Amino acid sequence: MATIADQRQAKASTVGGTETLEPLANEDVFFNVLENAEKDRPATRPIYLDAQSTTPLDPRVLDAMMPFYVDQYGNPHSRTHAYGWESESATDVARKHIASLINADPKEIIFTSGATESNNMLLKGVANFYYPKKNHIITTLTEHKCVLDSCRFLQEKGFEITYLPVRSNGIVNIDDLKAALRPTTAVVSIMTVNNEIGVIQPIKEIGQLLKTYGAELAKELGRGTPKPFFHSDAAQALGKIPIDVNEAGIDLMSMSSHKLYGPKGIGAAYVRRRPRVRLEPLISGGGQERGLRSGTLATSLVVGFGEAARIAKEDLPYDHAYISALAKRLRDNIMSRVEMVMLNGDPKGYPGCTNLTFSYIEGESLLMALKDICLSSGSACTSASLEPSYVLRALGLDDANAHSSLRFGIGRFTTEEEIDFVCDKIVSVVTRLRELSPLWEMVQDGIDLKSIQWSG
Ligand SMILES: Cc1ncc(COP(=O)(O)O)c(C=O)c1O
Repeated sequence: MATIADQRQAKASTVGGTETLEPLANEDVFFNVLENAEKDRPATRPIYLDAQSTTPLDPRVLDAMMPFYVDQYGNPHSRTHAYGWESESATDVARKHIASLINADPKEIIFTSGATESNNMLLKGVANFYYPKKNHIITTLTEHKCVLDSCRFLQEKGFEITYLPVRSNGIVNIDDLKAALRPTTAVVSIMTVNNEIGVIQPIKEIGQLLKTYGAELAKELGRGTPKPFFHSDAAQALGKIPIDVNEAGIDLMSMSSHKLYGPKGIGAAYVRRRPRVRLEPLISGGGQERGLRSGTLATSLVVGFGEAARIAKEDLPYDHAYISALAKRLRDNIMSRVEMVMLNGDPKGYPGCTNLTFSYIEGESLLMALKDICLSSGSACTSASLEPSYVLRALGLDDANAHSSLRFGIGRFTTEEEIDFVCDKIVSVVTRLRELSPLWEMVQDGIDLKSIQWSG
C-alpha cells in the first residue's frame, strides 16, 4: 500500500519532478485516510456481523477526537492555564452528551475505561460501602461475565448472592425477584439488553419494585434505611434503545463507548446523586471524578465517547428502524429457506442482536465454513475446550443446540447487500453440512433422537 508521502512524490514526479513538497498538515493526513479508506481495504475483507463484540468508530467521532490528539493536549485537570481549561471544557461537553442520552445530570457521570471497569467499580463499590449492614446481592444467570465474576469475588469475601433464573425467552420473572429481596439486599444487578440474545429486561418494573420495597423497608426500619439499589449493565443498550434512568428507577449503570461507534478504552458509570448512592472507590489518587475514579481523564477518548453519544441520541430512531428492517430481512430470509431454525430469546428484544439455532449442525463447523463472515457462536472459548454458552443454557437449550447457535450482530454500517450475501451463504452451508450429518439423516427418516440410547 502506498503511503501518503509516496503518493505525493509520485504526483510531483509526473508534473516535472523537482517540486519541493510542503510538510503535511494534519488535515491532509486525516482526509487522505478517509478518502482512501475504501481503496486501501483489501478486497477479501470479511463481512462484519459482530456488533455486540464491538462496533467500528463512526468517522464523525474520529473527526471530533483528532484535535485532542494533536493540538489540544492539555491535562483536563490543570486549573492554571488555557490548555487545561480547553480540555476540561471538552470533557464537560462530552459528559453532557452522555448524561442527556440517559436523562441524567452530568455530575452523575463518572468516566472509566469501559463497562467491565464500571461493573466492577459499581458492584464492589456499593457492596463494600454498605457492608456489613447489607450483605446480599441479587443478579441473574445471564449477566455478562464481568458482573458474574464481580459477584463471585464478593461471594468469596462473605457476601450472599442470589442468581435468578430466567424464563425460556430470557426474561427474568418479577415474582422471583420479589421473593428474593431481603432487608439486607445491597444491590440488584440486572442488565438492560443481553449481549448474546438481545433480550430486553423489564427495567421499569424492576425499578418500581425496588422503590416500593425500599419504602416499606424505611417504614419498618426507620427513615434513612437505604433501599436495595438498582444497578443495570447497559453496555448493549446505550444508544440502541431509549434509556431514562429516572423513569426506570436506576441508581447505578454501566456504559461502554465502543459498543456505540465510539473509541475503545473508555466507558462510564452512572451514579445517582438524589437520593445519594455511596460507593467505596476502587482506585484512589488525585480525587478526580467525584473521588470515585482517580486518574487523568483521556481527553480524546472522552470527547469521542461524548460525540458518539450525541450522534446516538440524534440517530437513535433512524438507526433502530434501519437495523430492525435488516434484522427482519435476515430472519425472514433464513427462516423461510431453512428448516429447523430457532430464534433464541424474546422476539421483541433488540433486533440488532439476532441469535439463531441451526439444529443438527455444529456451530463451530458452521463458523469454519463461513470464513468470509465475522460472527460469534453460542460457545465460549475456555483454555481447554469450547463450552456451550451459559446464557443459552439458562434459556433451557441443551448443549447440542447451544453449540449449534450463531449470533448475528447488525449495526449502523451494515448494508442490505451484506445481509443478502450472508443469508445465501448460510442457506447453502447449512444445507451442505446437514447433507453430511448422520443425525440429520436420521431425523429425516422420522427417528426420534431422544429415544436412542447412545453408548459410551
Ligand atoms: C453486556 C456487557 N457488559 C459488559 C461488557 C464489557 O464492556 P467493555 O468492553 O467496555 O469492558 C460487554 C462487552 O462485551 C457487554 O456486552
